[in-house]
Amino acid sequence: MSPYWKDKAVLVTGGAGYIGSYVVEDLLRRDARPIVADNLETGTIENLAGFRERVEFRNLDLREFSNCRAAVKGAEVAMNLAARAYGVGHSHKNHGDMLTSTLQISLNMLEAARLAGIRRYLVVSTSCVYPDDAVMPTPEGCAFDGTPESANEGYGWGKRMAEIQAGYYAREHGMEVAIVRPFNAYGGARYTWKDEKSHVIPMLVRRVMSGEDPLVVWGSGRQTRSFMHVRDIARLMVDATERHATGEPVNLGDESEISIADLVQVILRVAGRNPKVVFDTSKPEGKARKSADGSRLRKVFPDFKAGVSLEGGIREIVATYRA
Ligand SMILES: NC(=O)c1ccc[n+]([C@@H]2O[C@H](COP(=O)([O-])OP(=O)(O)OC[C@H]3O[C@@H](n4cnc5c(N)ncnc54)[C@H](O)[C@@H]3O)[C@@H](O)[C@H]2O)c1
Repeated sequence: MSPYWKDKAVLVTGGAGYIGSYVVEDLLRRDARPIVADNLETGTIENLAGFRERVEFRNLDLREFSNCRAAVKGAEVAMNLAARAYGVGHSHKNHGDMLTSTLQISLNMLEAARLAGIRRYLVVSTSCVYPDDAVMPTPEGCAFDGTPESANEGYGWGKRMAEIQAGYYAREHGMEVAIVRPFNAYGGARYTWKDEKSHVIPMLVRRVMSGEDPLVVWGSGRQTRSFMHVRDIARLMVDATERHATGEPVNLGDESEISIADLVQVILRVAGRNPKVVFDTSKPEGKARKSADGSRLRKVFPDFKAGVSLEGGIREIVATYRA
């Protein structure tokens, strides 16, 4: 293991959240000293169970600049994961809220890090920066074509601006910025249920496990998505911060695509349930297809191998629900 992280004080904003808590765990494995700043809007202290005593926790709302300044105190590296990260059910009718909160957190956090003299910084962007008509699988170069994905447009603009700001700060202030664009994270045991604001896999697992019959699935079922396990995403975020702080964005995803209809079948198989499945096309389904061109990821991290299969990750969520 590289000595880069040993005893480093690393700020993880949103570290009590789904992906963030796995980032914290990964950092602990690398002997770093994580500081978590989170307002617990969707994150929970339980997400830190098992390693809470090894983490410094700061309860702060990072939309406020003064709180961002408190968050960065004593940190040597900052990884900015805090965001109102909701599924399409919320995002498609709250673009203003998604834009404002994403911008407030991103702009204030990077500026606070700069003022505190932190050079190494991770911007967590998203695949939602890509337009609806982007080529599939989508390479990183398409992020500023047209408008972001229409169902997540406000959020997508916010993340685009976070990337732009980081580029300027790298050029003008010598900051070393890593930028990652995760596709859909899934798996693990820590997803916080967000009612109709939830992401697709936890939403479906919960409804299947609660015995919904017929199982009503949003959209035609033909829309495709590309999933990456949350522990793989977390590990790649840490690796990118260490090894690719060049300002060049990297997709955290690959060419594998699964339709929502097929995904439902995987969930039903793993859960051992057999409800009638009905597709509700009056509900938003987001983009028709979504998959990442993973060439850059493979080039930058040639040693990366996915740790868990799609079915394996779904098994974890089903087991968590049962427990
Ligand atoms: N989950 C995905 O598939 C996915 C895909 C692409 C990008 N991302 C990005 O990854 C990051 C983590 O997302 P996640 O899925 O773990 O979501 P999450 O909701 O579990 O985590 C976000 C965390 O940020 C915290 N937070 C929200 N508003 C805050 C505020 N004002 N001040 C302080 N903390 C605040 C929440 O409490 C939560 O702990 C986000 O930046 C998100 O945009 C996630």
